[in-house]
Amino acid sequence: MLRVARRLASRWQGLTVILLDRHKIVSAETQRDFDAIGWRVETVAADVFEFLQQDNPTDVDVITTNLFLHHFPQAELARLLALAAQWTDVLAACEPSRAPLALAASQMVWAIGCNDVSRHDAVVSVRAGFNGDEISALWPKQNEWELHEWPAMLFTHCFVARRTGRTPQ
Ligand SMILES: C[S@@+](CC[C@H](N)C(=O)[O-])C[C@H]1O[C@@H](n2cnc3c(N)ncnc32)[C@H](O)[C@@H]1O
Repeated sequence: MLRVARRLASRWQGLTVILLDRHKIVSAETQRDFDAIGWRVETVAADVFEFLQQDNPTDVDVITTNLFLHHFPQAELARLLALAAQWTDVLAACEPSRAPLALAASQMVWAIGCNDVSRHDAVVSVRAGFNGDEISALWPKQNEWELHEWPAMLFTHCFVARRTGRTPQ
């Protein structure tokens, strides 16, 4: 997110970013780096469902997720997407691609020095990844949204949902 922020900071000034993970994963250095580009950062260590089920959703411009959606079984993911859609008009996600090449590469991460945990995670993550229109199929009220889903580079699967404002049919 910091890398994205650095690319956007000259055009988008004074933004607030909420970084959510159930673990405290944001270092003090990263927080300072956000300060340095003039973006305010709030870190939230919480379960995503508890956070998104708050009574008064904050109106956020964009939700982005990185290597996150593949953690959830289909029914939970559908619930997560439905909650996210109540918070924002744009959601962009970057996930593992569930493709033969990605699976083959995930089985070879030992070659770049990955430990047992990462070797296990790499394969499991690819198997839990996405292809085709799998995320779009779970998105709620599809006629009110423009959905794009595509494979990117060698190992990535992207999804973007943008509210069009059309009324339900
Ligand atoms: C593969 S890591 C990606 C972390 C980070 N988004 C990144 O790009 O480096 C997946 C993260 O999802 C978090 N996570 C899994 N289930 C969660 C949940 N129910 N609520 C909040 N965070 C969760 C884990 O703690 C973990 O840090």
